[in-house]
Amino acid sequence: MNKVRVILFGLGAIGSRIATFALQKEGLEVVGAVEIAKDKVGKDLGEVLKMDKSVGVTVTDDPDTLFSTVKADVIIHSTVSYLKLAYPQIIKCVSAGVNVVSTCEELSYPYFKFPKLSDEIDKLAKEHGVTVLGTGINPGYLMDTLPITLTGPCLDVKSVKVTRMMYSGNRRSSYQKKIGTGLTTEAFNQMIKDGEMTGHVGLIESACMIAEALGWKLDDVVELPPEPVISEKETKTTYTTVQPGHVAGLRSVAHGIKGGKTVITLEFVSHTNVEKPYDAVAIDGTPSIHERIEGGVNGDIGTIAMIINSIPKVLNARPGLYTMKDLPLPAAAVKDLRTYIKAS
Ligand SMILES: NC(=O)c1ccc[n+]([C@@H]2O[C@H](COP(=O)([O-])OP(=O)(O)OC[C@H]3O[C@@H](n4cnc5c(N)ncnc54)[C@H](OP(=O)(O)O)[C@@H]3O)[C@@H](O)[C@H]2O)c1
Repeated sequence: MNKVRVILFGLGAIGSRIATFALQKEGLEVVGAVEIAKDKVGKDLGEVLKMDKSVGVTVTDDPDTLFSTVKADVIIHSTVSYLKLAYPQIIKCVSAGVNVVSTCEELSYPYFKFPKLSDEIDKLAKEHGVTVLGTGINPGYLMDTLPITLTGPCLDVKSVKVTRMMYSGNRRSSYQKKIGTGLTTEAFNQMIKDGEMTGHVGLIESACMIAEALGWKLDDVVELPPEPVISEKETKTTYTTVQPGHVAGLRSVAHGIKGGKTVITLEFVSHTNVEKPYDAVAIDGTPSIHERIEGGVNGDIGTIAMIINSIPKVLNARPGLYTMKDLPLPAAAVKDLRTYIKAS
């Protein structure tokens, strides 16, 4: 079987790390790279990734020409969080007849916020015989796929609560920036209000994915405005230094409501002063289940892995738009990626 040919679409903090791993992954061949950042366009991918060798792929800002001249099996898309921005890019990939695995948070479960766009992506994917998936560590795994899987041995579920308690000081700078690290409270609130800072994106998507998996029709899904977490001490991170009284990170909460009761609670806490990170799921049901991952899961490594490990599942799937709950159970594709691809 030939290697799986990959085009990378987006070479930011996560896209670059995925690219570095993809270049080493057995069974994968990187055949193209798209990026709009001026300092990357026209350069060899190896130079952009600060490797000490050329890899023979020139970064382009012209996906149309690339897609019409280079054949690929899958596009790894990692540019933006919001589907309205990602949509034209996804449509371009699908129209070129290439499967898509994307880190776009709102694509991980797009049916609630964007039913029409979801239908359009699904329809176009089917027309072109390709599969589209939005995934990552969160949304994509820790606050949706994992809790859904944990309900497997339950006869009944009354509620699901997921908490991520993360130390953020060693995360990529774009991540530390989007959770407000180092800002004053005033700047934090203003930037959230003006949409200049996103906070975490994906709680609504995760809540809706859990509800659909359990067959729950929610009356409402509510995401509260992100709250800044204020640092009491000076803290150095890989991105900045947080002064006492300034923002160390944030807390975001979303609720899924059914029959007037909160049946889903998703709590995302990420700041520079978390001493004991963890990821936890509490299911109130028959039986009740409490799972806790001490130390938490590294979000950046986890995202790279979710993207790479999902490629065979996407290539094996029927054409259309899918979410993580629609595909076979996630598992690490530790061997040559072709090992996991079914002959068609
Ligand atoms: N689901 C998950 O668990 C998960 C995990 C990690 C990341 N994400 C999401 O994945 C996305 C990428 O993450 P990141 O940290 O790498 O963000 P980032 O550092 O902002 O990188 C995004 C890159 O894409 C480029 N870009 C934007 N629009 C483009 C276009 N139309 N064509 C080509 N390139 C384009 C940007 O260029 P400019 O800088 O010039 O705009 C930037 O270099 C973010 O939205 C992030 O929130 C999701």
